[in-house]
Amino acid sequence: MSLKGKDILSAFDFEREDLERLFKLADRLREEINDKGTLDYALGKVMVTAFFEPSTRTKLSFQFAMERLGGKVINFDVSTSSLLKGESDVDTMKIIDGYGPDVIVIRQKIPYFPHKVKDIVKAPIINAGDGPHEHPTQALLDVYTIWRELGEVDGLKVGIMGDLKYGRTPSSLSFMLTRFNNVRIYYIAPEVIQIRDEVLKEIKGKVNYMKVDKPEDVIEELDVLYITRLQKERFANPEEYERLKGVYKIDKKFLMKFKHIPIIMHPLPRVWELDPGVDELPQAKYFEQAKNGLYARAALIKEILGV
Ligand code: CP
Repeated sequence: MSLKGKDILSAFDFEREDLERLFKLADRLREEINDKGTLDYALGKVMVTAFFEPSTRTKLSFQFAMERLGGKVINFDVSTSSLLKGESDVDTMKIIDGYGPDVIVIRQKIPYFPHKVKDIVKAPIINAGDGPHEHPTQALLDVYTIWRELGEVDGLKVGIMGDLKYGRTPSSLSFMLTRFNNVRIYYIAPEVIQIRDEVLKEIKGKVNYMKVDKPEDVIEELDVLYITRLQKERFANPEEYERLKGVYKIDKKFLMKFKHIPIIMHPLPRVWELDPGVDELPQAKYFEQAKNGLYARAALIKEILGV
């Protein structure tokens, strides 16, 4: 089965066979792009990036991916748009869709916004992050990175640490990991920012998981330590953010205490929770992870376009 013409709203929209096919395609496109620069699969196709929230990696890697596939990108710029005159974001999506793009990539701060507009927009939609809810293509590149680095996903122990309550990458990563066998997830965070019950409800019975307070309790068991930042912009109470800031930080000195150091991943941007001193360790994979986004997203765009 291909993903031609499909909306991607959730990490659950990918079956295991889709993921395995996309990972292999991403590797193939990586080689072709490294060899030829720009390809011609998407000649004549147009993608719109409609980002209503800030982004560096997701927007740029989608734009690069489409350009490398030979297609065109039109960027919707919120700061110069008629949203500033009071036009609604739903009307904005109808207008963008009316010009006939072949695919639209949406980032929104409102949870479920892509779900809300999917039936009023003809073009396939890719959810590039809807508030604290989900970020399915981040999970795609995260699991692609794990697959490349460790050779498999089945049977791995993955620690997901940080702001699990407001972060959207922990939920999508958890959903995607349910597609593999015998994976164990450790949610590492103080209770106030632990993983949301609604996420646990979705994964119950599909993957093993455990809540843990501190990374030192499990680090030597882990294959992957996936760190996330506190989502400052989603905290209603700035004092709570400041209090939690002191709770955890990973630096080289901390990691060197352990006999076994798992691969270190982070969706980025990082702020203070992952010290730049860690970058020099061979286990630090987060910049490679960000780069993998281009190839994983190129594979996804190619499949959705059916080219
Ligand atoms: N990881 C991620 O979504 O980064 P951006 O917010 O920069 O797109």
